[in-house]
Amino acid sequence: MRRWRRAKRSPTPDHAPAHAPSDTAQRRQYARTMNMKLKERLALALSAFLVLFTLMLIVDIQMDYGISGHRVPLHGRVKIGDDTDKGRSAYIEFRKRFLQKSNGSNGSREYEQSAPSETSGGDAEPRTPATPADRFEDLQRILVFQLQGKADDNPVVVPPHRDLNVLRPENPTIGEMEDLEPRLLSIQCRTVAWSAAATNSRPPMYHAAKTNTLRKIFHVNLDINDQSVIFESLIRVVCYSVNASNLEKFQLKIAQHELYEDGEPLVGAILRDMTFEPILHVEQKEGGTQLKLIIDYPNGVQALFKPMRFARDVQTLPNHFYFSDYERHNAEIAAFHLDRILGFRRAMPVVGRVVNMTTEIYDVTEGDILKTFFVSPANNFCFHGKCSYYCDTGHAICGNPDMLEGSFAAFLPTSDLAERKVWRHPWRRSYHKRRKAQWELQSDYCDTVRSTPPYDSGRRLLDLIDMSIFDFLTGNMDRHHYETFKMFGNETFTLHLDQGRAFGKAFHDELSILAPLLQCCTVRHTTLAVLLKFHNGVPLSKVLRDSMKADPVNPVLWEPHLAALDRRIVTILDAIRKCIDKLENPLPNEINAVV
Ligand SMILES: *[C@@H]1O[C@H](CO)[C@@H](O)[C@H](O)[C@H]1NC(C)=O
Ligand SMILES: *[C@@H]1O[C@H](CO)[C@@H](O)[C@H](O)[C@H]1NC(C)=O
Ligand SMILES: *[C@@H]1O[C@H](CO)[C@@H](O)[C@H](O)[C@H]1NC(C)=O
Ligand SMILES: *[C@@H]1O[C@H](CO)[C@@H](O)[C@H](O)[C@H]1NC(C)=O
Ligand SMILES: *[C@@H]1O[C@H](CO)[C@@H](O)[C@H](O)[C@H]1NC(C)=O
Repeated sequence: MRRWRRAKRSPTPDHAPAHAPSDTAQRRQYARTMNMKLKERLALALSAFLVLFTLMLIVDIQMDYGISGHRVPLHGRVKIGDDTDKGRSAYIEFRKRFLQKSNGSNGSREYEQSAPSETSGGDAEPRTPATPADRFEDLQRILVFQLQGKADDNPVVVPPHRDLNVLRPENPTIGEMEDLEPRLLSIQCRTVAWSAAATNSRPPMYHAAKTNTLRKIFHVNLDINDQSVIFESLIRVVCYSVNASNLEKFQLKIAQHELYEDGEPLVGAILRDMTFEPILHVEQKEGGTQLKLIIDYPNGVQALFKPMRFARDVQTLPNHFYFSDYERHNAEIAAFHLDRILGFRRAMPVVGRVVNMTTEIYDVTEGDILKTFFVSPANNFCFHGKCSYYCDTGHAICGNPDMLEGSFAAFLPTSDLAERKVWRHPWRRSYHKRRKAQWELQSDYCDTVRSTPPYDSGRRLLDLIDMSIFDFLTGNMDRHHYETFKMFGNETFTLHLDQGRAFGKAFHDELSILAPLLQCCTVRHTTLAVLLKFHNGVPLSKVLRDSMKADPVNPVLWEPHLAALDRRIVTILDAIRKCIDKLENPLPNEINAVV
């Protein structure tokens, strides 16, 4: 256990936004080509700028008009003497090829059609998709080879023995790092904890830190100055009067490489607690763009409540930007199940529950939010809270007439127990109506990312690619930052947090979410294996539907969203296949661009 503690003190990562790629090199390249004709310095700079500008414009047009099938001759750039751009954007290329195909075969296409109608239950019957025509045997073969120890230098599919998420040389839990094992919190712990306190071999500072942690965990008030006395009396208090809640036990078991183990019984226990435990107190969450409530249960258990705003089959308005879209409570529930089914286990448990707005919200809250409750013309009980988007009478949250459905997401450990580090996502969108992000403009963007810590080694880049696959499946475009637990350093999983904007469009597959995969052309063996398993076996839609049947607000998802999952898996597999093809048959760029 000491070992973990040392690991804890090892330097935690600094903020590392991907470097703004310098285009100076490129600029110089053009400059050299033009050098013979242009002698004036000013003219030189000007023309270099113009060339660059044109180049950007071409890329821009490529992105903007890809859908309508206009083809700008990409290899036209060759004439300008651009031989540095060997990488070419895999993203742009894939998107273009993908769209070309969309008229022809059914194999892969950017599936887009208008929703049947806003409230229609059309297509709401569960369907079993037909057996896949293409079983991706080429990809299966690579997996088999790798399990036999062959093909392990494949740059596209990262074999298990080179994947830290599989190897896990160390996998301490938060409890171990903090010297707080879950079992220490129950009655049986008494003698163990007792002797640790009695031997008193650790310096007072240690006691103080530990006391603080325990205080947070058990919500015990302590005002005594003598640390060792506090420590002993605290153990007495703890052991005799308070058991750790399921959520506290769960939090202490969070490990370096996953939130919870496969089949962890505490997950079910937490879901049950959040469904059936009485709600003691409700408070609006400060900050954030949309209304969320912090729910207090007995024993200090907390959950984040997102209210239901509209029916399952209402989709994102076409003119809404992803960043101003409503959050969906059912997306949170479905994303938790999906994350678990895919074997990532990087999302906290979420459950649906219907609450009585009078007794379970209004009666147990206080402050300004009370003033926002009202009865609507339809005699429903409503409130709107206070926030920066959609918190007014026109966007109120209404019960039916006083029963309100919502999602309850279990809280992560507080920062006293396990601080989190927030990272800028390298493939972050620009969050600006007109501007494009770096990754949309730079063809070899992944090379830039790959050479920047912490993406240059270890598991981080593979995690982001897992995340892009996860987000592509759910249609979540709102991934501007991501978080890790600080104490585990860089070699830890990335949390799948906040999926409120997922499952907004059932009939549109947003290819740009896959950009990390398309531009880096690399994926975990284990992730590919899971995708193939669902593609060739029991479909993901069915497994997810069955998993969510246990939820109190089942059916959680509108059927077209489930159908979209099976369709999107094919797109992902297609993308991986193209990466491998490109590797095995590196065609000259010019030909590639036309094929
Ligand atoms: C973790 O990543 C940061 C980059 O954000 C880097 O500076 C640091 O050296 C890395 N730490 C380790 C232990 O590799
Ligand atoms: C592809 O589809 C579009 C509209 O969906 C149509 O206008 C176009 O003619 C089609 N092209 C081919 C080659 O089928
Ligand atoms: C696409 O698939 C549908 C059925 O899934 C079929 O009716 C249609 O003919 C197919 N279209 C093409 C171009 O293969
Ligand atoms: C605390 O846990 C123990 C053992 O798990 C159990 O027997 C006991 O009833 C629990 N006490 C309370 C108050 O829940
Ligand atoms: C909600 O609670 C109030 C107050 O106890 C009660 O009058 C009302 O009938 C409850 N609503 C439902 C649907 O049970």
